[in-house]
Amino acid sequence: MSKNLIAPSILAADFARLGEEVDNILASGADIVHFDVMDNHYVPNLTIGPLVCEALRKHGVTAPIDVHLMVKPVDRIIPDFAQAGASYITFHPEGSEHIDRSLQLIHNEGCKSGLVFNPATPLSYLEYVMDKVDMILLMSVNPGFGGQSFIPATLDKLRQVRRMIDASGRDIRLEVDGGVKVTNIREIRGAGADTFVAGSALFGAAKESDPNCYDSIIQAMRDELAKAD
Ligand code: DX5
Ligand code: ZN
Repeated sequence: MSKNLIAPSILAADFARLGEEVDNILASGADIVHFDVMDNHYVPNLTIGPLVCEALRKHGVTAPIDVHLMVKPVDRIIPDFAQAGASYITFHPEGSEHIDRSLQLIHNEGCKSGLVFNPATPLSYLEYVMDKVDMILLMSVNPGFGGQSFIPATLDKLRQVRRMIDASGRDIRLEVDGGVKVTNIREIRGAGADTFVAGSALFGAAKESDPNCYDSIIQAMRDELAKAD
């Protein structure tokens, strides 16, 4: 399995000082920036778009930016995110009328691609496109909000996807998103995930002595992950 990556969801950051928050969480040891895009149509919430992604790049963020599109439709906005500096672009199959085309579009724009599965979305969408995904993201909550509880059935689904990835022989990341925290990350890794999105668990746990420092919580997650290996 590939190296564990910790992906803070900036949904839980202080948006009034987003650049600083992203700098601090990366300096505290996070690996990639998880960027939640919501449209108040596919999901009942509204967040940030390509301008904010571009602003983070201009601010000097060089870490990979993992754009999670919770929007419908997806094709119109994909090139904009590629231009804005996205590294990964993932979308929900329900958000595209032509999944294969959207995956190709992401690759043609020079980004890594991925499909996202809601808790009740079947994995059958992967059947004909395993050769076109670089990441598979399993939602462990219903999308739209941070701070929800991890849905335990995700563990079995993770094991299933891990088998599919291993059987494919391809280098595909297995990401999990929603309710990930220090107390469950080890079990989630044990079920096969290698990329861990965490919003409230990370940004809600700044050190009291230094509200800009997230290193203890990231270290606690890494310690738990090390026990799973
Ligand atoms: C939910 C988002 C998540 C969210 C996770 O729709 O996709 O990335 O920010 O937040 P926590 O870690 O608080 O569950
Ligand atoms: Zn997300």
